[in-house]
Amino acid sequence: ETAVTDKAAPKTPTLPDTQKVTFVKHWTDRLFSFRVTRPASLRFRSGEFVMIGLMGPVDEKTGRQKPILRAYSIASPSWDEELEFYSIKVPDGPLTSRLQNIEVGDEIILRPKPVGTLVHDALLPGKRLWFFSTGTGFAPFASLLRDPQTYEDYEEVIITHTCREVGELTYGAELIKSIKEDELLIELIGAENLAKLRYYPTTTREESPKMGRITDLMRSGEVFADLGIEPMQPETDRAMVCGNLAFNIEIKDLMEGYGLKEGANSDPQQYVVEKAFVD
Ligand code: A2P
Repeated sequence: ETAVTDKAAPKTPTLPDTQKVTFVKHWTDRLFSFRVTRPASLRFRSGEFVMIGLMGPVDEKTGRQKPILRAYSIASPSWDEELEFYSIKVPDGPLTSRLQNIEVGDEIILRPKPVGTLVHDALLPGKRLWFFSTGTGFAPFASLLRDPQTYEDYEEVIITHTCREVGELTYGAELIKSIKEDELLIELIGAENLAKLRYYPTTTREESPKMGRITDLMRSGEVFADLGIEPMQPETDRAMVCGNLAFNIEIKDLMEGYGLKEGANSDPQQYVVEKAFVD
């Protein structure tokens, strides 16, 4: 009798670098956030981004599938056991038109190589730290705002968020609220440290308590008057900036006007900038 070698049926090829979706929340028809499992080996600094995505369609010529990957800021802090992302939905965006349909249990691709300039290491010591954001540019700050170092290193932390409509502020507003109420964070960061955090949301196309672009509100001095502080100075103030391209350019101009210099990982200075994810 000949034993039949039981050649195992070929396994379904598993994609490299896949992670499982554990949570999805849609905030508006243009914005959603989601959480995925974290690769055991992934270490990152709060504020960094990774490439994430989905497999693209089968190429008719080669018969192969290529991943569609985009840079996404990690919105969760580095101590969190999962990874959180905050995304726009672009109806004809190559990635987000499909990514917006993910559900708990689905898999996404995540390349575990975190990089970025919105990190504490790229700034010189200072007294007051500003986070300036528009739209999904809030994401890296959602990470940094939950990092104890943010409060250890500064006496005051101010986050500004400018969006077109009130509903686009909700992800950030709820995060700020939860930070101040979350028992784990209070224990980790300290209630007295969390009291250093000030939140300054503005809208440009829908009525809200504070209207206008943050850039205009800085030029007019309204932001500083509202917060009861002096305009920015290179001796005391540090900033991280993340928003749309026009916003980043305008804020850079303002920072230089206050006498702050742009830094990088290899050359820490007084402010750093990164573009928010776009499509
Ligand atoms: P506005 O409505 O006046 O364009 P978007 O959704 O297009 O990325 O914009 C997000 C927010 O950023 C909007 O409130 C928008 O204001 C604001 N914004 C756009 N460009 C600039 C800029 N150059 N400086 C400051 N804010 C800007």
